[in-house]
Amino acid sequence: MLTRVGHRVDRGRLLGHLNELARFGGADGGGVSREGFGEADNAARAYLTGQAESLGLTASVDPAGNLLIRRRRSHEPERPVLLFGSHLDSVTNGGRYDGAYGVVAALEVLAHFAEHPGPMAYEPVAVAFANEEGALFPCPFFGSKALVGMVNSADGIVDHDGRPLRAALSAAGGDPDALATAAWPAGSIGAFLELHVEQGPILERCGTPIGIVDVVTGRSILDITLNGRQNHAGTTPMDARCDALVAAAKLIVAIENLAREQGVCSVATVGTIDSAPNVTNVIPGSVTLTAEIRDGSPQRLAAAERAILQLVAESDTHHNSARVTMRSAPTETDPRIRACVAEAAAELGFATMGLSSGAGHDAQIIAAAAPVAVIFVPSRDGISHAPAEHTDPEDLVAGADVLLGTVRRMLFTVPAPGARP
Ligand code: GLV
Ligand code: MN
Ligand code: MN
Repeated sequence: MLTRVGHRVDRGRLLGHLNELARFGGADGGGVSREGFGEADNAARAYLTGQAESLGLTASVDPAGNLLIRRRRSHEPERPVLLFGSHLDSVTNGGRYDGAYGVVAALEVLAHFAEHPGPMAYEPVAVAFANEEGALFPCPFFGSKALVGMVNSADGIVDHDGRPLRAALSAAGGDPDALATAAWPAGSIGAFLELHVEQGPILERCGTPIGIVDVVTGRSILDITLNGRQNHAGTTPMDARCDALVAAAKLIVAIENLAREQGVCSVATVGTIDSAPNVTNVIPGSVTLTAEIRDGSPQRLAAAERAILQLVAESDTHHNSARVTMRSAPTETDPRIRACVAEAAAELGFATMGLSSGAGHDAQIIAAAAPVAVIFVPSRDGISHAPAEHTDPEDLVAGADVLLGTVRRMLFTVPAPGARP
């Protein structure tokens, strides 16, 4: 066995990079707003590029804005890639670990292989996927989807202020006219590994430092518009109103109850709402909102989608519309790589447990093209997508060491899962 307990990431550098990254989009209260393709995201990517180069690695941006970090002079077209990483973008007022942790750990792991070259089954490559969250431009998983050929155009996608994705993508070093070329050829990704904070309470409750994900949840997002009748708030009697915001309030409660009371899907959330004209003395004329539903079963997700469309059709307002703007399927990780993670953790003396992920991850998109695994470390109080997101440094380092051990096993000792014969 070539993997040795002695192989560890550089703890100081890992934690230092994470601290530095938190400055990009960081606010005084500890929150991070580093929305994909926004200024802070671009600055964070530039920072990471500089760090990669100072470690003797090369960094490039593909047409979809994915940041790919490679060893120098490592171009070997015949060898499939072992890809590992996550995303640098965050939700608005989110935390400092979601995504960024997996990227800085990937940088550490790749730096290790630049320092310890040798014959390898795969070429190791680190990645920071573009716009995983979709907080500014509502196209989550943009980069990972492009990598597996699911994105051909940025046309028609705008942020909340109407700015086009095309311009933002170009500013980030991407190329909206060459998006189709961001797709990797079939068979070129040998496997993908994503290290991430759990974002839930299970590992902490169980006192287990390493989680090995078996299933990543599926998700659908619907854009909904309710059209009422705008009118004077003082002169319009209560029985003569068609208030779009009141209809929206009823709809929001009904959507929540699909999950909370009826159990149609696992969770349901209305996370955004815009009321027009949004003036105190005007009855709201129209409201747009998003509904987001998640479940581990594609059938249950489809049933929840249908239920929401029905609720919108039955709303008190008229000429309503609802459409699904994003769907990601529930995804199983690869049992052979899960076993590899468990062995790497055991060798380092860390306990592991299997668990499912209620959060979405780029890994579930890459699973369309390659076997994937997702490794979790504990999140304090299970909080994430919030400034209070926290993981203890010991756990961060442990997770990165397990990633390193897993990658070493896959490169040096294990026949590539899904590898070409
Ligand atoms: C991704 O962060 C998600 O919303 O699950
Ligand atoms: Mn997230
Ligand atoms: Mn994430």
